[in-house]
Amino acid sequence: MTADPAAVRRSALDALTTARSRTSALTDCVEDSELTAQHSPLMSPLVWDLAHISNQEEQWLLRAVAGREAMRPEIDSVYDAFEHPRATRPSLPLLQPAEARRYASEVRGRVVDVLESAPLHGRPLVDAGFAFGMIAQHEQQHDETMLITHQLRTGPAALTAPAPPHADSAGLADEILVPGGPFTMGTSDEPWALDNERPAHQRLVPAFHIDTTPVTNGAFLRFIEDGGYRDERWWTEQGWDLVRGHELAAPLFWHREGGQWLRRRFGAVEPVAPDEPVLHVSWYEADAYARWAGRRLPSEAEWEKAARHDPATGRSHRYPWGDQDPTPERANLGQRHLGPAAAGSYPDGESPLGVRQLIGDVWEWTSSDFLPYPGFVAFPYREYSEVFFGPDHKVLRGGAFSVGEVACRATFRNWDLPVRRQIFSGFRTARDA
Ligand code: AVJ
Ligand code: FE
Repeated sequence: MTADPAAVRRSALDALTTARSRTSALTDCVEDSELTAQHSPLMSPLVWDLAHISNQEEQWLLRAVAGREAMRPEIDSVYDAFEHPRATRPSLPLLQPAEARRYASEVRGRVVDVLESAPLHGRPLVDAGFAFGMIAQHEQQHDETMLITHQLRTGPAALTAPAPPHADSAGLADEILVPGGPFTMGTSDEPWALDNERPAHQRLVPAFHIDTTPVTNGAFLRFIEDGGYRDERWWTEQGWDLVRGHELAAPLFWHREGGQWLRRRFGAVEPVAPDEPVLHVSWYEADAYARWAGRRLPSEAEWEKAARHDPATGRSHRYPWGDQDPTPERANLGQRHLGPAAAGSYPDGESPLGVRQLIGDVWEWTSSDFLPYPGFVAFPYREYSEVFFGPDHKVLRGGAFSVGEVACRATFRNWDLPVRRQIFSGFRTARDA
């Protein structure tokens, strides 16, 4: 991205418009009664996400950036994620679908006007269009949340998309050696990077091997068939408690019928495809699989080094393939497809050392807790990252098919509780060299 203000305004408008078309696709494909229903206590009604997206947009772009008055001050508290846990949101006085849509289009209309003329320098909130990029990312993050709600919803399919491309992965090595030494982790110059990705700093990462692709359903099935879910040796204490307490025996959305494993995905039941990355596993299942395989999860620093570091130049790039933005040929992002591509796909997206599908397809659990980098400064609000730092959350990296391009880069950090499985989570494994 360039600092030319006209180019910044164009990219910001483009990112906001792309996010909005996804939001509309996710909310126009079901009846109003399905927008106000709670499909799972883990999720908000879709109509809450819809108005929350616009309430955040109004607070940051119309009030904080442009100094406007609140349009509807009485609704701020309804859409404050910290005041109301997801399970309680259906009983709030929510804007009904037509009202929520009207509010969304009014906010967006004013934001487009502000974007045409607001100064884009002089204070950190607007430098290089940061607040606009942050709000486009926020909308895309809720588009992913809404896609999780669609996956949890029962009933016939509402969303459709073409299947992802399938590349021939014959001849790919199982794992790749990443040489030891320092690399630059995090960023100080990516204009729309969020606070937890900052600042850039040096990390010493000893040599390690990492899987060329995410772990597949076929490989995970061997763990299941070897009794992995019934063997305490592979599990941490909390992982074993989860397995026994919830009688876990397979990834979420899988079931066995007539000797075959089937999975439910966005309303369709299909046989589990052995060559696709495994999806909907908790951190505990990823960790147990890795121990069973005689391996371990990569740390967050190892993952980022595999994804960004070019051993030929010593430089860290924005993406495994270099500094250019993602394209449909490089990565499976943006809900363009509604599932991951077969392991080994996307040769154009591989890293300099040949690691594939680091960006897109499935979020990848790492062994690391979500912690601030040295020199972290909360910006522009503590509730984005800072309140989540600590040992309760594990870091996920790389984005998934569910993630918008603007909210995905090799420095991007996601986090969740290690018990979570409704998210689009998979993993790859590593070992010391
Ligand atoms: C970064 C994906 C964990 O969805 O909880 C959305 C993003 N923050 N609204 C989340 C977020 C505020 C966040 N994650
Ligand atoms: Fe939010």
